[in-house]
Amino acid sequence: MRDPTDDELELYERARAISANAYVPHSSFPVGAALRTADGSLFAGVNVENDSFGLTCCAERTAAFTAVTAGHTAFTAIAVHGNAASVPPCGACRQVLSQFSDALVVIFPRDGRLVAAALDELLPVQFEL
Ligand code: THU
Repeated sequence: MRDPTDDELELYERARAISANAYVPHSSFPVGAALRTADGSLFAGVNVENDSFGLTCCAERTAAFTAVTAGHTAFTAIAVHGNAASVPPCGACRQVLSQFSDALVVIFPRDGRLVAAALDELLPVQFEL
């Protein structure tokens, strides 16, 4: 884990901006994600909650599925914003993201400061078929 670069901070700013579009009637906890793909394209996602709670989709997965829908399956970095001291991607999102990168950098708040970590560090053993 290390301090984010200027580029990574810029990606985080996009995550923060898009979090305004989160649909969070249940948790009131907006999350935004900004994803960069291998060719430099950018995709955003927010958490989308549902009255059937288990159907909620996290911001990271919304961003990942939006990128895949646009034809991108190689991710290089994802930034996550939420209004809390620590907002690491949940375990389910780590597994989903691992499908689309061998070396993904994840930028997120940890203990009140922004950090950049390799996905491999956050999910060292990934399920693969
Ligand atoms: N959430 C995310 O969007 N990303 C995460 O990595 C963790 C949690 C959302 C799901 C739910 O809408 C709200 O945050 C509270 O759990």
